Amino acid sequence: MSAKSSLVVVANRLPVDRVTGPDGSVTWRRSPGGLVTAMQPVLSTQRGTWIGWLGDTSPHGAPAPEPFQLEDFRLRPVPLTSEEVTRYYEGFSNSSLWPLYHDAVEPALFKRRWWDAYQRVNQRFAEAAAEEAADGATVWVQDYQLQLVPDLLRQMRPDLRIGFFLHIPFPPFELFMQLPRRAEVMRGLLGADLVGFQRPLGTRNFVNLARHVLDLKTHGNTVLLEDGRKVVADAFPISIDVAEIERLAQSAEVQARAKQIRTDLGDPKTLILGVDRLDYTKGIERRFKAFRELLSEGRLSVPDTVMVQVATPSRERVEHYQSLRNKVEREVGRINGEYGQVGVPAVHYLHQSYNRAELTALYCAADVMVVTPLRDGMNLVAKEYVAARIDDRGTLVLSEFAGAIDELRQAFACNPHDLDGLKQTLLRAVRAPEAEVRRRMRMMRRHLRAHDVERWAASFLTALGGDNHTQLQNSRF
Ligand code: ADP
Ligand code: G6P
Repeated sequence: MSAKSSLVVVANRLPVDRVTGPDGSVTWRRSPGGLVTAMQPVLSTQRGTWIGWLGDTSPHGAPAPEPFQLEDFRLRPVPLTSEEVTRYYEGFSNSSLWPLYHDAVEPALFKRRWWDAYQRVNQRFAEAAAEEAADGATVWVQDYQLQLVPDLLRQMRPDLRIGFFLHIPFPPFELFMQLPRRAEVMRGLLGADLVGFQRPLGTRNFVNLARHVLDLKTHGNTVLLEDGRKVVADAFPISIDVAEIERLAQSAEVQARAKQIRTDLGDPKTLILGVDRLDYTKGIERRFKAFRELLSEGRLSVPDTVMVQVATPSRERVEHYQSLRNKVEREVGRINGEYGQVGVPAVHYLHQSYNRAELTALYCAADVMVVTPLRDGMNLVAKEYVAARIDDRGTLVLSEFAGAIDELRQAFACNPHDLDGLKQTLLRAVRAPEAEVRRRMRMMRRHLRAHDVERWAASFLTALGGDNHTQLQNSRF
């Protein structure tokens, strides 16, 4: 059996991180974030190869760790030195691109040496993909960390079908034009045959930029390159493995754990839940402020109402994230100091990672889920919460700035910048009559069941090359 794959996924991260203990022992931990949540079921079904970073650092010049098998697919690690982690991952990816693509809710920083590392690492990922892909294979490149890979790969392997999917928003002209290397980034993306976005607006921004930055002709969603090649852009709203979450939610263990959580919290009338990576795009401070003001005005009170906020540690060496953590923790201290009672804090703040069963138990235990990003490509947490509510209970407060709002139309929509509006919406969600709660949740669940991650991947791969996709469904690497 050849090691070459007919489907190769290239993403900055592998679905697991390697954690080396002080005694040198190695353990594996699921890596955080929506990308892994979405891609893991896709690759399991398709039995392809996943190329990515293991989340640790390798000494300069050290040999790359060998590919290995995980469940139904093959993993090919790409090593990064600590300098590359600083410049490519924390620097260009997460201090330049991440804020810029999220409406610059924090200022984007640019340093020339970060760009050099971004190019070098993108080249390494492209080389790994060129080695792993079988003749005429499909290579699916993921997210903002690897925007140069499609073009680099096409130069090495013109026989491949290359797709690119951006998991985060694609910014409008006014913001993208700040990027010092905007033309190179556009050229990198245009190496793909198909460029996918979460929302139609991302597609429009991309086509518009191809015209204005590179002076290319466009026709509808298609960009025409100088050599006659056509690149199609389109929206493919990502989803989750709905059946997996439903299975978890139905299990006796998760149901028992959900009950236990409520008991441990003192059986509040209303449990408000937030689950996010600790990221400044998620609007965590806005929701705390709304909650604090509602407590101070007496419109909510402890112990009837308590809040649980899971804040998964993320990008902890990047300055914006460090200052966010300080601000969030100060605010939690303030709310608990002013409104908590002995044995009953107003906010239970958990700066930890949890497994999927525990997260699902939290979703099942909640009465109100608050998802208030200032900008978010999709937000899979909102979809997971809905999928977990097999009892048709629970309300969802969802920001108008999350991609998920296009589909979860029965959520209580809010503008997190409008504090009074957010407070009103939160109260409406807390006080919604049971019949309305059930009606809303039922409709959202119905939508999700018909639009799960398998359908998302199938529609992308079909658009990338219909025949190829059918073959892929029957093939093994
Ligand atoms: P982002 O991709 O920006 O992190 P999403 O909401 O789209 O945001 O996806 C987050 C994913 O990470 C979800 O699948 C969620 O279940 C998972 N997740 C969030 N918090 C934790 C945690 N503490 N431990 C493990 N996984 C988590
Ligand atoms: C978002 C991004 C992913 C990223 C994830 C976790 O979902 O779109 O590309 O993997 O956040 O962030 P991290 O920096 O830990 O990989």
